[in-house]
Amino acid sequence: MIDTAALRHNLSRVRALAPGCRVLAVIKANAYGHGLVTAAEALAGADGLAVARLGEALALREVGCRARIVLLQGVRDAAELKAAARHGFEPFVHQAWQVALLESFRGPQILRVWLKIDSGMHRLGFAPAQVPAVAARLAACRAVAQPVLLATHLADAERTDLPVTAEQLRAFTAATSGLPGERSIANSAGLIAWPEARADWVRPGIALYGISPFADRTGAELGLVPAMTFETEVIAVRDVAAGERVGYGGAWSAPCDARIAVAAVGYGDGYPRSAASGTPVGVAGRPAAVVGRPSMDMLSIDVTGLAGVAAGDRVELWGREVPIERVAAASGTIAYELTCRVGRRVTFATRDA
Ligand SMILES: Cc1ncc(COP(=O)(O)O)c(C=O)c1O
Repeated sequence: MIDTAALRHNLSRVRALAPGCRVLAVIKANAYGHGLVTAAEALAGADGLAVARLGEALALREVGCRARIVLLQGVRDAAELKAAARHGFEPFVHQAWQVALLESFRGPQILRVWLKIDSGMHRLGFAPAQVPAVAARLAACRAVAQPVLLATHLADAERTDLPVTAEQLRAFTAATSGLPGERSIANSAGLIAWPEARADWVRPGIALYGISPFADRTGAELGLVPAMTFETEVIAVRDVAAGERVGYGGAWSAPCDARIAVAAVGYGDGYPRSAASGTPVGVAGRPAAVVGRPSMDMLSIDVTGLAGVAAGDRVELWGREVPIERVAAASGTIAYELTCRVGRRVTFATRDA
């Protein structure tokens, strides 16, 4: 279930955390698995939307979305630039050849572009030393709306114990000093943990979905509400004797006589195969734990202490009862990956309550 009221709540929570900032809602990768169009509609109160690639932006225009849409990876060639210009998309510019594409663009449109600066993540963006020359080229470019926006991305904003974010902030400030144009630095962790990173625009993704970017705090602890509830039901309940192995590879054997509920979900649905025995789940509203290795379509759950569990009982894999951050930690991954990987076999109802 995708709770669109939770998406709206989280947007207002982001606004409260970053007062005075404009919000570019990051809805790439099918809105982190929540549904691109569902999220775009629920987050219509944001000041703009950000996706990674042109195809995602086109899908939004196709359903009539008139929002400002930023392309975080920019365009890949002249055809993409033409499409971006036609639809009013705002590409990030992070490579010299993208500047050259803009210089040779002959269409009637003027594009808003975001100059991406590498302040230390070393993934996308111009090195600080290149910025004056690139900014001058963009300032002289007929196809570019002036002044260009200035952006960088933080590599480790969730780690307040490390010096890297402060270094990135210093590098970005130095690289952009004297340049006009609105600034954008912070992702979710940046806007929560680093007040100095709350520039003209913040770019939250994960927080909008109600999930904490921090290892030591859940979304609920940050005043966020999980938008995705991943649920299924019990299809069988069976007793195993002490010492019997459960599931593939016998990754778990019953330490004593036990009752196991089998739920209809597995890695074929995007539930992580790496979820360790002990990973939390909810069964009919009560806490329980995964045992053995999740298989493609099924998950074994120890319900020994829970009276009356029966086929048809609701099982929550993550959502309001079961914090996804805990599932991710028990699976050796991050919540971002879990929501993104929910499979096409899963259909989410949408709720707006
Ligand atoms: C450039 C950029 N900005 C913002 C975000 C949003 O980050 P988060 O989901 O951590 O808030 C992302 C996501 O990876 C991104 O790539």
